[in-house]
Amino acid sequence: MRKISKIGVLTSGGDAPGMNPCIRAVVRTALYNGLEVVGIRQGYKGLIDNDMYEMDRRSVSNILNLGGTILKTARCLPFKTDEGMEQAYQHAKARGIDALVVIGGDGTFTGALRFSRKYPDIAVMGVPGTIDNDLCGSTYTLGFDTATNTVIQAIDKIRDTADAHDRLFFIEVMGRDSGAIALRAGISCGAEAILLPERATAIDDLIANLKEGHMNKKSSSIVIVAEGDKNGGVYGVAKAVQEEVKNYDIKVTILGHLQRGGAPSSFDRILGSRLGFAAVNALIAGESQKMVGLQANHILMTDLEAALNHHEFKLEEDLLQMMDILSI
Ligand code: F6P
Repeated sequence: MRKISKIGVLTSGGDAPGMNPCIRAVVRTALYNGLEVVGIRQGYKGLIDNDMYEMDRRSVSNILNLGGTILKTARCLPFKTDEGMEQAYQHAKARGIDALVVIGGDGTFTGALRFSRKYPDIAVMGVPGTIDNDLCGSTYTLGFDTATNTVIQAIDKIRDTADAHDRLFFIEVMGRDSGAIALRAGISCGAEAILLPERATAIDDLIANLKEGHMNKKSSSIVIVAEGDKNGGVYGVAKAVQEEVKNYDIKVTILGHLQRGGAPSSFDRILGSRLGFAAVNALIAGESQKMVGLQANHILMTDLEAALNHHEFKLEEDLLQMMDILSI
């Protein structure tokens, strides 16, 4: 069986609240088991640039409550090249790293899978960390709960002012390819409509629904538009609606990167700790090219390749049905 002695840990891609509790769990679980830990700064970029440092128990003190990631993160194009990967491998080997914990989303896992196929002597374990909640093999990804709560708080406030002025708001939330935040936040805030990348919405139907709501004495309306919706973005949708319903007082809000920051929720602190703990234990057990994830409240492993299978990933059917019924 593969035996490891030094784990490198990195966070890559978009940061997500809960990454810090996860780093803490990785470091302390590894040290508890007599392993050494190297922190890699800015994701794969740190491997390529040899920007790494030895971590001890105190390097992860008082970080449970911090958003962002103490290791910093990046989207690293050079890691997609053979030269970049070779450089990363040479630096990892020179440090004595024989296992990696990579915390991130689909881009991070795609890189991890390529790397570990090319250099199988370094074991790789993925931890799902993205606010997008779009990986197979984990019902929830790190940061999704916190981000959704942040969005809900913001939309509740917008509802107050929308109601006071009888206005129609179009609110863009994050999710280039994923409607997960839009769907949950929309149902939680009673949005009149939710536009998702996974499901086409005809603008004519949207307009008809909004008019109907108006006739049914709705004082305010909120339409949530996920970043990746295919109707021309939040401004495009708002413009198309305004052209048809001239008497509406329409406003647009883009929530943007505030959705990625903030202290992790209780859920994300526990999930980060569980996943970090499980990732190290899986590496000690000789596993590689897997992702640890939450399934029916158990931490289970999925092949990295399967975790990336977007065709298998689906938004919850009951939530999709509900969104058309509850807010009418
Ligand atoms: O992958 C998470 C995510 O927040 C997406 O929802 C969003 O489209 C993207 O990152 C934004 O990335 P960046 O911060 O690099 O602009």
